[in-house]
Amino acid sequence: MFPKPGRRLTLVATGFLLSVTVIVAIPASAQSDPIPARAEALLKQMTLEEKIGQLNQVPGIDFQGSGKPDDVIARGLASSVLWVSSPKEINRLQRIAVEKSRLHIPLLIGLDVVQGYQTIFPDPLAMAATWDPDLSEQEQSIAAREARAAGINWAFGPMVDIARDARWGRIVEGAGEDPYLGAAMARAQVYGFQGRQLGGADRVLASVKHFAGYGAADGGRDYDSSYVAEEQLWNVYFPPFKAAIDAGVGSLMSAYMDLNDVPASGNKFLLGQVLRDTWHFDGFVVSDANAVGSLVTHGYARDDEDAAYKAFGAGVNMEMVSGTYMKHLADLVKQGKVSVAQIDAAVRPVLAAKFRLGLFENPYFDESKTAAILSAPEHRRFARTAAQRSIVLLRNEGGLLPLAARGKYSSVAVLGPLADARPELKGLWGGMISANKDEPVVSVLQGIREQVGQGFHVEYAKGASIRREIPSFFENAGELSMHEEPLPDAVHQQADFDQAVATAKQCDLTVMVLGESMLGSGEAASRSSLQLQGRQQELLETVSRLGKPVVLVLINGRPLDISWAAKNVPAIVEAWIPGVQGGAAIADVLFGAVNPGGKLPVSWPRSVGQEPIYYAHNLTQAPETKPDFISRYYDSPTSPLFPFGYGLSYTTFAYSNLRLSNEQPKAGETVEVSVDIQNTGSRTGDTVAQLYVHRKAGSSSYPVRLLKGFERLTLAPGEKKTVTFHLGEKELSFWSPQARQWVEEPEQFDIWAGDDSTAQLHSSLQVSLASN
Ligand code: NOJ
Repeated sequence: MFPKPGRRLTLVATGFLLSVTVIVAIPASAQSDPIPARAEALLKQMTLEEKIGQLNQVPGIDFQGSGKPDDVIARGLASSVLWVSSPKEINRLQRIAVEKSRLHIPLLIGLDVVQGYQTIFPDPLAMAATWDPDLSEQEQSIAAREARAAGINWAFGPMVDIARDARWGRIVEGAGEDPYLGAAMARAQVYGFQGRQLGGADRVLASVKHFAGYGAADGGRDYDSSYVAEEQLWNVYFPPFKAAIDAGVGSLMSAYMDLNDVPASGNKFLLGQVLRDTWHFDGFVVSDANAVGSLVTHGYARDDEDAAYKAFGAGVNMEMVSGTYMKHLADLVKQGKVSVAQIDAAVRPVLAAKFRLGLFENPYFDESKTAAILSAPEHRRFARTAAQRSIVLLRNEGGLLPLAARGKYSSVAVLGPLADARPELKGLWGGMISANKDEPVVSVLQGIREQVGQGFHVEYAKGASIRREIPSFFENAGELSMHEEPLPDAVHQQADFDQAVATAKQCDLTVMVLGESMLGSGEAASRSSLQLQGRQQELLETVSRLGKPVVLVLINGRPLDISWAAKNVPAIVEAWIPGVQGGAAIADVLFGAVNPGGKLPVSWPRSVGQEPIYYAHNLTQAPETKPDFISRYYDSPTSPLFPFGYGLSYTTFAYSNLRLSNEQPKAGETVEVSVDIQNTGSRTGDTVAQLYVHRKAGSSSYPVRLLKGFERLTLAPGEKKTVTFHLGEKELSFWSPQARQWVEEPEQFDIWAGDDSTAQLHSSLQVSLASN
């Protein structure tokens, strides 16, 4: 939360090391911070049991027979509750803590406010597709305002796990495959949740998660082990966490899976060496739900006592749900295995967070104000803007879109299982918050109807039903349950199918809204295939064969196998899981009220067999750039269907005049890289200028390209702007597996700028060693 003293920068030339230590002064404001003293004074009054209680988070609902937590709270043995989203219940529980417990310590009320509380916004992957961190900050500041107005003071987000495998269902919860984009979105979300400094009345504590490497789960299978080499951790998986910490995130959630054979929630390398010793994180670590208890299941801890010992020893301050700390930490102290000083050190940042949030002064929220804040029309307007900006136009042959511009159609068939779907637009976490169950959701059909008005005939048919083959555990999770409808029998399915085809026949064009079922992505939603679920592909092909124009709109949490559509369907719009205003935003794009400008935050595979796939792979000895390169597969190109950073617009842009302020900087110096961008089409639109670099030699191989700058900008027809990026020590450094630290090597770098990761506009620079 405060600048850390003594940052070490190292410059490396092959064969020798040169190091510089920079001392950053601690500002006077930090020295006069009253909170540590308040926390210390409170700590002095606490019994050992009460201290351990501050490390205990319990379900605020009756979860799997846990019963209501009233009694533990009254005894001062719960620091925090989770999963309660009903405002009334929150004040009730908080009252027990403040009025009945001996020391009146308020509760942290934690919830998965990942894409909003009442107003559900596009999912985080969609927000990454906006390439607009300011928008993401605004989104999470609204989410924080709504959550705080209902008593939630702790959001379990942002989720910043890098994901390079679309089989992994949780790819939807993060910013995609790239560490630079991921870091920008992580920072923005922390600022959105917490503000620039934790303590604002309408902000919440954030919890960056899941530390670390969860997105690399073997085979994309949720919870499976991750094996990630150290240089990949530093260069790829850690940067978004580091960005969140630099932005002042107050808490961090440890992950479920094994990282390199040590479960992340008992992993001293992650929670000790990296988080505390290297990054000097001064917030607190909370485990994922049951992750401490599961150290036994993993075969890492002998029993619950050993699990508590290993998690606590590794650096987990607060245990979520499994209760082993409450049962065993006091005994471990008696046995001399854990010291009271260690317990105190673990409790301090928890108390500090409660003081910073202002909970001791204002533990309750004002129920009379909640409804007005939750129903603020500007929040819905923002949800529509966010969804509009997240939409990626993947294909638009013959300028089929926007539809209004054509003027030659008078009827549209809106087909597909997601055409009139509502809960599916809210995603897993958005849908789970019980308080927003009645929040109206604009379906695509409704959005289109409202958009076209009279004189344009809109017909609807569902055509196909979808659901998971194997149910999710969220379908049987008590108060947290969400349900996917059972599939109709084969006869009814066929009747629906035929009706959709007949509807398409009657209309001039078809909008097919296909994708994933409600629990089709998110936690515990991994897939071994990326095919459209159920009979959707068959429906798409059958309707396409009618020979009328077809627009495919995708509602999904991950890239799907749309290779057939990419050849045969003229227009494809990726709308992700777009939130409560999703249908309106999609209609805005289809009918041209909005010109799409989102860009892919992931490489889009041709088929599941290409996973994991990402643009920042190494050159290898047979690079794609070789003139005789064909593919590393013999049955498919190596390249993705659509590259990272890609997205079309209803206008066109030209990038030119890439130039550097200095082509021969010394290590540590910053170079300005400028590029001119002109809107060469006939309507206003957005492009995302992207800067990529490649280091041509050095102490390790370097990815074929790495994103090192981006800016989304709007240009009127004919308008030209210059975008300037900065390449300095931070951007040009790489964690070297040989030097085992960050190094800026005196080597040549290629530079490209353009509107996706295949940009061709090129320049180069040569870094030389600093002279001192
Ligand atoms: C498990 C999930 O992995 C995590 O992301 C979430 O925050 C917790 N459960 C609490 O719901």
